Amino acid sequence: MTSTILIDYDRSIGEIDPHIFGGFIEHMGRMVYEGIYDPESPLSDERGFRTDVLAALKELAPTVIRYPGGNMLSGYHWLDGVGAREKRPRKRDLAWQSIESNQFGLNEFMQYCQELKTEPMLGVNLGTGTIEEAAALVEYCNADSGSYYADLRQSHGIMEPYHVKKWCLGNEMDGPWQIGHLEADEYGRKAREAAKMMKWQDSSIQLILCGSSNKTMPTFPEWDRQVLETCWEHVDYLSMHHYANNNANDTTSYLALALEFESFIDTLEGTLRYVRAKQRSNHQVFLSWDEWNVWYKNMETQGTWCEAPHLIEEVYNLEDALVVAQWMNVFLRRCNVLKMACLAQLVNVIAPILTTPEGLLRQTIFYPFQLFSQFASGKSMEALCKSPLIETPEFGDVPLLDVSASFDETTRKGAVFIVNRSQNGSESVNIKWQGFEPLKTAHVYQLAGDNPKLINSFDHPHNVRTVDLGDMPVVDQNINIELPALSCTVIAV
Ligand code: AHR
Repeated sequence: MTSTILIDYDRSIGEIDPHIFGGFIEHMGRMVYEGIYDPESPLSDERGFRTDVLAALKELAPTVIRYPGGNMLSGYHWLDGVGAREKRPRKRDLAWQSIESNQFGLNEFMQYCQELKTEPMLGVNLGTGTIEEAAALVEYCNADSGSYYADLRQSHGIMEPYHVKKWCLGNEMDGPWQIGHLEADEYGRKAREAAKMMKWQDSSIQLILCGSSNKTMPTFPEWDRQVLETCWEHVDYLSMHHYANNNANDTTSYLALALEFESFIDTLEGTLRYVRAKQRSNHQVFLSWDEWNVWYKNMETQGTWCEAPHLIEEVYNLEDALVVAQWMNVFLRRCNVLKMACLAQLVNVIAPILTTPEGLLRQTIFYPFQLFSQFASGKSMEALCKSPLIETPEFGDVPLLDVSASFDETTRKGAVFIVNRSQNGSESVNIKWQGFEPLKTAHVYQLAGDNPKLINSFDHPHNVRTVDLGDMPVVDQNINIELPALSCTVIAV
C-alpha cells in the first residue's frame, strides 16, 4: 500500500510565526560559561565568545533567545551582571547549587544576540525580585536617557536603547522547586502589577505569563485559568514547558508523542478561549512554548558550588531527533495559536551542541531543528495524509506518518516535513500538490538510521545527520518517494 499526502493551495492553517524557531540560554551548568562564553579559550574572539559555537548557532538560526533562566532567574538580580566586570559579585545560585561569577550578563547577552541577528526575550525575577526591579530593567533596556536606569546603561557604554520587545513574567512560578514559588492567586497579582509597571515604562512591550510548568502538575490547567483571569488584558502570551522522555523504553509510543504535544496545546487553547469569553474581551493571548526538548537521561542538577559544572548534558539519539521533528510538525500544525517556542537549551545543557575545550559536536537533535528553521516559512498548509496505522501501547492506533507543510507566498517556496514512525519498514509515499503553479523539481533532505538509539559522538560525529538526496522530478504535481524507517524527510519545492 502507498501512503498519500495531499496539499491544496486553498487550505492553509495560518501564518507561521518565525518566533517558533527560538532557543533558550540559561545560566546553568556549561550553557553560558564554557558554552557560548569562554574568554580563556583559543577558540574565542576578543569578546570571549566561542567562535565555533557562534558558527554552529548561526546554522540553527534561532529567531529569538530566552534569557537568563530558567529556575536560576528566580534568584537572579540583573544589576549584578552589568557594569565593570571586576566589580561584579560572585554569588551562589541556589537553583543549581553553583557559583555565578556574573562575568557574562545582560549587555554581553545583547551583544551575543546582535551577533546572531536574533531577538532577545528577557525574563524578570518574580521569585526574590520585586516589581520595581522588573520595571527598572525595562527602563535600563528601553528608555532613551535622562532617567536613572537609562543613564546607568549609557554609563555602561550602551548609548542607544535596545528596545527589547518580549518579556517573561518570571519562570515556572507554580513549581514548589522554584525560588520564591507562589500560589496561583499570589502569582497572578504579582505578575499583573509587574506587567502594569513594565508597560508603563514601555507600552510597546509584549509579556509572557507563566503557565503551568508542565502538564503533570496537580494544578494544571487550573493554574493557567486562574492566572489568565487575573492578568488577561495585561499579557500577550501564556508559557508552556514540557520535557519529553522515553523512560519506559517504549520506542513505539515514544515515536507517537506528537499526539501528546497536540493535546497539551488543545487544552490550553481551550483555556484561552474560555477566559477570553468570560472576560468579554477582544484581546488575544497566544501560546509560547518557551521550554521544550527531550530530557530524561542525565538528571544531574546539583553543581556542588562550582563554576560551570557539568549539569544535564543529555546525549541525544536518533529517536530523540525524530521526537524533536514531530514536535516541530506540531508547531506548524498548531500555528494558529502557538506563536513562539524556545528549544531548551542551546549549548551543553540539554542541547543540540556539546562543547569540549577543543571543539564541538552537533547532536542528533541539531539537524531537525535546522531543517525546520531553514525551510518552514510563510503559511502552514493542511497536509491531508492517509497512511497505515501502527499500534502503540500508550496512544492506541496512530498514523505511520507524521506530516506538516508550509508555503511562502513571498519566496514561492514550499516544504513538506514527514516523519516515518516505522521501526522496520520503508514506506512508499505519493505527495500531490493541488492548485499551485506547476512544480518542476523537489529537493530532498533526509535524516535516518536503522537503530533508534544511534548517537553522534566526538569519535563518530556524523552517525545521524541530514543527508542531501538531491533533486527529484515532480510529474503532474506528484512525486513518489520511498521513505526509510526511522526517518525525517524534508521535501523542498
Ligand atoms: O531547562 C532546565 C530547567 O527546566 C529550567 O531552568 C526550568 O525552567 C525547567 O524546569
